[in-house]
Amino acid sequence: MGPKKAYAVVNRKAFPPLKNDLILRAARGEKTERVPVWVMRQAGRYLPEYMQISSKNGFFSICRSPELACEVTLQPIRRFNLDAAIIFSDILVIPQALGMQVDMIPGPSFPEPLCTPADLEKLNKNVDVNKELGYVFQAITKTRHALEGKVPLIGFSGAPWTLMSYMIEGGSTTTHSKAKRWLYTEPEASHQLLQLLADVIVDYLLGQIKAGAQLLQLFESHAGALGPGLFSKFALPYIRQISYKLKERCSESGVTPVPFIIFAKDGHFALEELSGSGYEVVGLDWTIRPTNARNKVGASISLQGNLDPCALYAPPEEIKRHVKEMLQKFGTQKYIANLGHGIYRDMNPDHLEVFVNAVHTYSEEMNATQ
Ligand code: CP3
Repeated sequence: MGPKKAYAVVNRKAFPPLKNDLILRAARGEKTERVPVWVMRQAGRYLPEYMQISSKNGFFSICRSPELACEVTLQPIRRFNLDAAIIFSDILVIPQALGMQVDMIPGPSFPEPLCTPADLEKLNKNVDVNKELGYVFQAITKTRHALEGKVPLIGFSGAPWTLMSYMIEGGSTTTHSKAKRWLYTEPEASHQLLQLLADVIVDYLLGQIKAGAQLLQLFESHAGALGPGLFSKFALPYIRQISYKLKERCSESGVTPVPFIIFAKDGHFALEELSGSGYEVVGLDWTIRPTNARNKVGASISLQGNLDPCALYAPPEEIKRHVKEMLQKFGTQKYIANLGHGIYRDMNPDHLEVFVNAVHTYSEEMNATQ
């Protein structure tokens, strides 16, 4: 047994007991007395306390410091009655682990993106996640202790297609045309890259569970760029592989698997397939009607989402009305409330508070009258 494993096991035993397991129960489809709520990007620039830390530290230095990552993860938990924390990190730490340089200036930027299949040779093919991403595992373990069992801690990763697109485009894009060009003209090299990413992601997520993550989310943020044909060929097979391999690896290593959320933004065309791909929860963006989503995924899967992040610009009374409507459509069971994508940086934090409290109040009321 290596020293890293011993460290994780010793600390895991000492984790404080969980006082609020609502989100874990909702994810597993068990009964909940109120709807759990968390928000994508709940730690970040809309919070003045985050801006204070980020004014003194670069984005990736915060990610790489277990102390700072832990502090920033806890900031929204101190302010709001959220039902989960999400570890502060980024999906782009995987391309970094593969040997690519990624800067945040302020959006993501790769000075040397992948241009041709020959560039795949430059990638580190034998990533040791403990060595390259051990700082994330340390941040998770530290945060589990610091949370004192208040709420569960969510771990996450980007999905292979979304990461592939960043690695080829070299940053954010609207068309994804460079990366999609690979899919159409270099299918073999594309699959090679996607497989490499899927393998690292499985190792990475297993490491996160061992370190203390109690729920996981896979972000396929660029699903909408693909459409049904490309999605079923280049995204879905890897999304499936990741959930099944992760469960296998957990059982091989005697680790209890944790519930897993798949969030494929703008991927409503794939909701049926996603519901059968080994995830307990399907996350939704705001462009799909809750009842349509429920019909597509069936009764056994839990759903997460999906208020338009811009709805939080509305006055408090209207935010409450939107929340009520959302809860009425999703119902209070097998459901985790969230926005349909990350909260925007110019959001008034008080409006997030209104959102979170409204989910609690209305869902308790609905449960009491059912
Ligand atoms: O609170 C949380 O949700 C945890 C932290 C988190 C961040 N990024 C912090 C972050 C999470 C879960 C992510 C995931 C992530 N990162 C995704 C998937 C979610 C999505 O938005 O679809 C993606 C696509 C990225 C890549 C990324 N990182 C982009 C495109 C950007 C810049 C654009 C933006 O929104 O600012 C980032 C930077 C980033 N990641 C910031 C934060 C708080 C802002 C940078 C800063 O603080 O300097």
